[in-house]
Amino acid sequence: MTSLDHDKAFLADFATLSQFGETRGGGVERQAATAADGEQRAWLHQWLTDRGAEVHYDGVGNQFGLFTVTPGAPYVLSGSHLDSQPLGGRYDGAYGVLASAHAAHRAVRQWATAGSSPRYNVAVVNWFNEEGSRFKPSMMGSSVFTGKLPAETALATTDPAGTTVEDALRAIGTIGDYEGPDVAAYAEIHIEQGRGLENEDTTIGLVDSTWAARKYQVVVRGDQSHTGSTIMADRRDALLGASLLVVAVRELAEESTQTPLHTSVSEMTILPNSPVVVAREVRLHVDLRSPDEALLDAAAKKLAGTIPGIEERASVSIEQVQTHGWGVAPFPAAGVELAAQAADDLGLSHQNVMTVAGHDSVNMKDVAPSIMLFVPSVEGISHNEGEFTHDQDVCAGTDLLTEVLHRLMSGAMDSR
Ligand code: GLV
Ligand code: MN
Ligand code: MN
Repeated sequence: MTSLDHDKAFLADFATLSQFGETRGGGVERQAATAADGEQRAWLHQWLTDRGAEVHYDGVGNQFGLFTVTPGAPYVLSGSHLDSQPLGGRYDGAYGVLASAHAAHRAVRQWATAGSSPRYNVAVVNWFNEEGSRFKPSMMGSSVFTGKLPAETALATTDPAGTTVEDALRAIGTIGDYEGPDVAAYAEIHIEQGRGLENEDTTIGLVDSTWAARKYQVVVRGDQSHTGSTIMADRRDALLGASLLVVAVRELAEESTQTPLHTSVSEMTILPNSPVVVAREVRLHVDLRSPDEALLDAAAKKLAGTIPGIEERASVSIEQVQTHGWGVAPFPAAGVELAAQAADDLGLSHQNVMTVAGHDSVNMKDVAPSIMLFVPSVEGISHNEGEFTHDQDVCAGTDLLTEVLHRLMSGAMDSR
């Protein structure tokens, strides 16, 4: 196949994949283990088996497609996630899974054409529930795979309707007892979800480290009462407490003028959420991120320090628990170097970048030599139906991933 044929085949498959859960605004809605997620998993399963891969599911719904060319050898694993946010974009995660499928298949054929056997096999992975929207936390499947989250905890996690991960996975039939491959190295490609590459007119981002993140579940407790008849002095309005907290979270970022600090209250559940009732309880999800971990810890401490004042002003009680997080951590320099060399050989411009968003590679880098690649996001739009990456960048990234997988299959990261 020529390079043009590869591009056409990739773009046609990406168009097909983008139809699962497609939304009127040009995005997708296929949260973890919903019917749309089940349909796209079945489609990927068929795509992989049609090309000679064996597909297996582990106990938390991670989907693996194994191309075994050197029996008994470990696997270079490459993937991302197919699940999306509500009203999400077509590229976040799905691009990386499809690019991995095409790149793995192409690399296998390159070895076959050359008539030689690689040191390692290659496998594609579609991690379960990277987004963490229907079931918290994010990066769930890779967290279990890397031993950071017990499988039983993940399986018992419920969505807002009370459905467990286990029941949801059984309903779409993608849960199994596969233990997962022996992983020699890991690679992932993803859209940048920021403006850095576009601003610099660069095609490839080589992720050399992560921002840190801290996520909290906060519960504000007040007292349910009548919105009309309860005198103001008697109110214990949980929604007032929550609102003061939303502002306090935003102010943390506004006060950090030297070093970036991104802060959000991203989810709020109001009880009973009724027009003539002062809220008795509000649950919030707080998300803090920074490339400076000490600053992040200081911000978290400052936020905790504002809580007594909010409790007093709104006559509520507030409980805050950290539920997820990760540190500023490097990706192996050898992998950045390998990918930079491959990009140079393909004539692709590149620069080193930090990842601001979390990715499954952030988990995998702690257990296997890992490489994370980015392609540009137009205007940095993400977690939005308007997410877009130009076809030429999508195809260039897949070419680079093919080259990276080919090199990793030869054992290129072994002695580094
Ligand atoms: C995961 O995608 C995150 O950035 O939290
Ligand atoms: Mn993603
Ligand atoms: Mn995402």
